[in-house]
Amino acid sequence: MKKFICVLLPIILVILVTIYFVFSNSKEITLKKLNYNSEAISKINDFDIYDIVVKEKYSKTLEMSLLSDEFNSKYVNDYIKINYVDSINFIEYVNKLLDIGYSYIEINMIHDKLENDSIKYILENNYIDNLEQYLSLVYFKSENLVRYIDYSKKNNSDVVDTVTYVNMDLDYDFYTNIKEVEKPDDLLVTVNKYNQLPSDYEPSNLVLIDSSCSTGNNYIRSEAKIPFETLCNDIKKEGLFVKAMSTYRSYKTQNSIYNGYVNRNGVEEADTYSARPGHSEHQTGLAIDVMNNTTSYTNFGSTKEYKWMQENAHKYGFILSYPSDKVSITGYVSEPWHYRYVGVELATYLHENNLTLDEYMARQV
Ligand code: DAL
Ligand code: ZN
Repeated sequence: MKKFICVLLPIILVILVTIYFVFSNSKEITLKKLNYNSEAISKINDFDIYDIVVKEKYSKTLEMSLLSDEFNSKYVNDYIKINYVDSINFIEYVNKLLDIGYSYIEINMIHDKLENDSIKYILENNYIDNLEQYLSLVYFKSENLVRYIDYSKKNNSDVVDTVTYVNMDLDYDFYTNIKEVEKPDDLLVTVNKYNQLPSDYEPSNLVLIDSSCSTGNNYIRSEAKIPFETLCNDIKKEGLFVKAMSTYRSYKTQNSIYNGYVNRNGVEEADTYSARPGHSEHQTGLAIDVMNNTTSYTNFGSTKEYKWMQENAHKYGFILSYPSDKVSITGYVSEPWHYRYVGVELATYLHENNLTLDEYMARQV
């Protein structure tokens, strides 16, 4: 027994101490290999989080949190997965987001997609439960975040509609926040109740539509002439008839048309069917009001020609600008006679996806 105590016990102790040192040393080597600095390694040991840390790649966020006074052990698993951003008080700010309830996935997206003002808003408000969905949309705009949240609360709209509509400025009243169109000659120019053409804008390439497809002298941008005349000739082969009755209208013409309606019906009603000057697609030279040869254009919606147009207009590059199911977003009552040229490819896409040009443009990056 004495022999055991004197010889074997020290040997066992030496072995145990050696094992301990080898083992803790190997932990240190592993953490060093992962790239953690000595101070962080000693904190990892102090907080007893080696087993968690070793399973993941090096995390600068974790390292910086360990070196700061802000380290919160309940967030270790999140720190490890949060991409580091070199800014002051980063850990404090990450902690705040984690306290609010954001996951590491959401926090990484917040950094990637939001600008400072929006991040400030996030930090000062309660958890936004579909933020990840918002940030996943490529056409999400950081500067619109607060408007998205307000709009979706007010309208109970889903994320896609909310972002699309706010990008279209639909959270503002019609004819407020008006911007002047920057590129009026662009084929996809959007002219609506928020986007106004300069009063002196007139397309430089207006051409006359052939008299066989038009009532009187109707001018249109040259890109749309052949497509419309082809449409007009093709529909004749079906025993139907479509002709242009109003196409390009100058600012001045639109002004007198609109004011005529205002005098007759008042502003509120006129605004539902007539554009204010500068706000009419007709001034782009890319819009055509059509009619057949049997009834007034206002009855076009109940004609066979309209049915044909619904099925075929896109094949010639035309879309219906003001459909009956989009009244709340166009701000105009249904106009079955008003078509807009955008080219075959886009017209087909819009037709197949039931989108207006404005909705489509609001989803461009
Ligand atoms: N009727 C359409 C909206 C216009 O005036 O341009
Ligand atoms: Zn029209």
